Amino acid sequence: MDHLTHVKHPLVQHKLSLMRDKDTSTAVFRQLLREISQLLAYEITRELPMTTRRIETPLQAMDAPVLAGRKLALVSILRAGNGLLDGILELVPSARVGFVGLYRDEETLEPVQYYFKVPDQLDERLVIAVDPMLATGNSSAAAIDLLKARGATDIRFLCLLAAPEGIARMKAAHPDVPIVTAAIDERLNDKGYIVPGLGDAGDRMFGTK
Ligand code: URA
Repeated sequence: MDHLTHVKHPLVQHKLSLMRDKDTSTAVFRQLLREISQLLAYEITRELPMTTRRIETPLQAMDAPVLAGRKLALVSILRAGNGLLDGILELVPSARVGFVGLYRDEETLEPVQYYFKVPDQLDERLVIAVDPMLATGNSSAAAIDLLKARGATDIRFLCLLAAPEGIARMKAAHPDVPIVTAAIDERLNDKGYIVPGLGDAGDRMFGTK
């Protein structure tokens, strides 16, 4: 996979514009995130290895294409990652799930870890780390560091919005981790928010302030 995939599909872009609108309610925001997450998951799993299985249709036998059985682990970067996670799990219900809890120190913008629980044998899995906002890239890069320290070697990163700064940070720290995003925005503001962005993704999906 390329290091960066920008998914420009009209449905993704339309739904994202609705999510950006500050007047969109929490309920609608959450539903849109679920829908977009499935369209992005479609893209990020495009090159999953396939094999065939002998089956019989009502008419005849055939070698039918099926996933090669590579184990999949989804890792949500808390808390906003959970909004992407739910939709993807509907598509791949057998995926194992991990959580990385990092919050951003509002002064330094550096990530601070408060929770880490991931499936075992990460070295045998395709790991998809999810976080809607790739802003400074500090917490994303730190989360990937933690996953690699647990043995993960095949990692992809799925987000909704990416700032150029975050993409550059991830490319420098983890050039082996492909990023899939629905949009690449202009820049970060002085508080580390993506501009034009959509605000705080966690607050918008959970209705907090
Ligand atoms: N996290 C968010 O939720 N929004 C931003 O704009 C940046 C980081």
